[in-house]
Amino acid sequence: MATFRDTLAQFVLSKDQVKAIIDGLTDELVEGLSTNDPKNITQQPSFITRLPTGKETGLYLAIDMGGTNLRTAAIHLLGDGQVGVTMEKHEITHALKTGTGEAMFDWIADCTASLLKNVSVDMGNSDLHMGVTFSFALHQTAVNRGIVLAMGKGFDLSDVMGRDLKDLLETGFARKNLHVVVSAIINDTVGTLVSHAYVSPSTKIGVILATGTNAAYIEKAAQVSKYKGPVCDQMILNTEWDAMGKASYLPQTKYDKEIDAVSLVPGFQEFEKMVSGLYMGELVRLALVDLIQQRAILGVLQGQVPESLQPRLAFKTLFMSTIESDSSTDHAAVAKVFKTSFGVEGLSDQDRSNIFDLIHAVGQRSAVMAAAACAALLYKAHGSSLDLDDASEITTIGIDGSVFEKYPHFSHSMLKALTDILGEDRTSRIRLELARDGGCIGAALVAMISHSGGAV
Ligand code: GLC
Repeated sequence: MATFRDTLAQFVLSKDQVKAIIDGLTDELVEGLSTNDPKNITQQPSFITRLPTGKETGLYLAIDMGGTNLRTAAIHLLGDGQVGVTMEKHEITHALKTGTGEAMFDWIADCTASLLKNVSVDMGNSDLHMGVTFSFALHQTAVNRGIVLAMGKGFDLSDVMGRDLKDLLETGFARKNLHVVVSAIINDTVGTLVSHAYVSPSTKIGVILATGTNAAYIEKAAQVSKYKGPVCDQMILNTEWDAMGKASYLPQTKYDKEIDAVSLVPGFQEFEKMVSGLYMGELVRLALVDLIQQRAILGVLQGQVPESLQPRLAFKTLFMSTIESDSSTDHAAVAKVFKTSFGVEGLSDQDRSNIFDLIHAVGQRSAVMAAAACAALLYKAHGSSLDLDDASEITTIGIDGSVFEKYPHFSHSMLKALTDILGEDRTSRIRLELARDGGCIGAALVAMISHSGGAV
């Protein structure tokens, strides 16, 4: 029993550990503003200098390109935070991902043409403005320009790396006689911040809590000493907080270290590896395997780890959601998941309750660390005494992603952790709101902002 409780305790963060995370992240947020180290990808300028007011109107195109799908959309901004959206989704096939850049960008142009046909947009000879959300590494050089650095996620395109994304897209559009101008290229967190500000104007921070985790916020341009572009007062920064978290202040367990060691890029995205949906289930699996081998749980297995639990990522984060959403006192969902997914039966009452506690602790740690990161960002934006501009002013954090939206009690746990960190009075002026559609709507809004002079 001691072994199990010891393992569990490692996932429960003390006040001091949470404070160390906040202080460490705050330091890295500051460091990222001035660093010239090319390996430090944090605090990336977006070149966008203002948020929407919610009153803007007009028709903008958007595409959201991720690892699996391409979404194309025509977004009618109707004012008063209202939008009309026509969206199409296309799977990016293996053949496209591993073919030529020309074939890929021809296909994107074809998908755009199909959308335009469906929304009956008569382009005439005037250009349509497009915003692009691109979830791949990009060295951004202007609001609408960026050099493709690497693609990953199963992409192996010829003639794309090292080229400018705007040029690649617009040449594809021209080959198909489409008059489309790429007005903005953004990270998904920037899209979340901008799109949530359109519906909820008190939004100051955009966060993604999904397969990965990251955030964007608004910074005074004078603070961003590494930014050498045209003069402006403020700018949205993509923090890339995923890549923060020097191991010295992160309370990594041996399971966290193992996840990092076998990952594609060890030492990279340490914070993300402790928090995001891609890794939560794997953390639980590694702890389960260790505890089974030590005969600290599931005595029925006599120290033998079932084959089905041996592959990496075999314990899905979805199983954690299923188990945590079961409110039965005997944790029947634990027994069900172990029987149907791993062929393990005969769990004792103690096993069910221990496994539930382990899963809860891993989920809870993620929520507490996400809250700590939000606190660091609030401190960075508003000073350590957190002088929110006016005592009655509300600051909204727009959060998108399956972990925040679907993981049981996650938003509640985050808010509770934020209250523990900031106190009730300050937290009462902070809203954590579910943000949706950052991808396409955010991209369209940024195209509008850029088109109307809100970018440098
Ligand atoms: C990863 C990416 C980052 C993205 C985040 C959320 O951390 O590096 O750019 O914003 O995932 O999708």
